[in-house]
Amino acid sequence: MPKLYIETVGCQMNMLDSELVVASLRKQGYELVSTPQQADTILFNTCSVRQHAEDKIYSNLGRLKYEKKHNPHKIIGVLGCMAQKDQKLIFERAPYVDLVVGPGQLHQIPSLIEQISAGAGRQLEVSLDRTGGSRSAVEQSFESYDPLRDEQMRPSPYQAYVRIMIGCDKFCTYCIVPKVRGPEQSRPAAQIVAEVRRLADEGCREITLLGQTVNSYKHTVGGKTWRLSDLLHDLHEVEGIGRIKFVTNYPKDMTDELLHTVRDLPKCSHYLHVPVQSGSNEILRRMKRGYTVEEYREMLARIHSIIPDAAITSDFIVGFCGETDADYELSAELLREGRFKNTFIFKYSERPGTKGAELYADDVPEDVKRRRNNQLLDMQTIISDEDNQQMLGRKVEVLVEGPSKKQELGEGSLLQLTGRDNCDRIVVFDGQPRLIGQFLPVMIYDANAWTLFGTVVTNHAGPEVYSL
Ligand code: 5AD
Ligand code: SF4
Repeated sequence: MPKLYIETVGCQMNMLDSELVVASLRKQGYELVSTPQQADTILFNTCSVRQHAEDKIYSNLGRLKYEKKHNPHKIIGVLGCMAQKDQKLIFERAPYVDLVVGPGQLHQIPSLIEQISAGAGRQLEVSLDRTGGSRSAVEQSFESYDPLRDEQMRPSPYQAYVRIMIGCDKFCTYCIVPKVRGPEQSRPAAQIVAEVRRLADEGCREITLLGQTVNSYKHTVGGKTWRLSDLLHDLHEVEGIGRIKFVTNYPKDMTDELLHTVRDLPKCSHYLHVPVQSGSNEILRRMKRGYTVEEYREMLARIHSIIPDAAITSDFIVGFCGETDADYELSAELLREGRFKNTFIFKYSERPGTKGAELYADDVPEDVKRRRNNQLLDMQTIISDEDNQQMLGRKVEVLVEGPSKKQELGEGSLLQLTGRDNCDRIVVFDGQPRLIGQFLPVMIYDANAWTLFGTVVTNHAGPEVYSL
């Protein structure tokens, strides 16, 4: 049986892509192994969003040089965003790589590996550049092949990512995604519903819909157009699915209709990730985000008024080109005021090929970026801790994901389990392994900035008795 090792960096899209690649190779008889040394085929599914992610891959590839020298039959592949961005350059930097495959060609991997094994030499398959043809030619060169799933590659068999769109057309000036993931294309609603039904039949309880700007989802068939809110209504009907999340939202497309849908459909999670990137209008303009801070604040107010218990998270970039102390202070002010459940803070990383790299100098020194990054992180930790303290004594509904650390699943014994509530808060509590995969009421008795600690509430009145 051929053996496969795969390493994945980057976002949820990449985790899903890796799941699908593994599923397609398992169909060919491959078995997953946990080290590159044990493997016949070694794949890296890569990310290009920041330089750091690329450096990590090149350094991991560097470590395989020796491995390949001693085992020349091993096939080494680089997949995903970095493959699309660097293409032939990867062969130049790491001549022992056999395979380079962009995110739009992942379905070809089994046949490409076969060709390499048969002596066809190195293989490179990538999509057209955004200016490399007509819109439809470029669109067609990015293909996704979602229905193949592999339960064992998921974080838990009860949760699955479901792609509802690929690509991005927003072209924020700092971002490489529209270049490496291609034009924005939404999948037909019927296809998505069919996939979710299949996942539910396999025991999946929670789905997370994925898109770079998931709330821009739009698909038209036979004169009828589905937006994300319509899709949520369709998915809400799928029996077995108990919770629906979606990431990542684009602030300008956060319509009242969508917010009303999230409020009215009980299966919709009240967790909304809506990245702002900066609190300064001048920086937002240079980033070409398409909204002002005032508009973002107005959107936050709308979310709070329609869904009062919503947990909102955001992304900030610090040290974008020309960001002054005053600009940074505006971001800090917005972070304080927004009281996000969590924020992801990134130091600006110039990406060759973006408008940002072309138009503006990456002129904020690294130590200033680092200081701003750490300050925002510290502020967020205090806010997250304060917010979590307010959860003490409250009951939340948790989907149990599994043991919180590596623990033996002994029969009848109590385990420390982990799961998430309807607002995506991590909850840790003691319980039996058989609770994994269930929705349970948990009473919170302790909290820190990152985790809530609770006890399963025994429901004597209901038809089901949760006994510890
Ligand atoms: N540098 C730093 N952070 C970036 N992001 C996207 N591109 C860059 C970049 N060039 C961040 C944004 C986005 C998140 C996924 O990554 O905050 O929301
Ligand atoms: Fe990148 Fe902007 Fe598209 Fe998000 S919306 S993927 S930040 S271009």
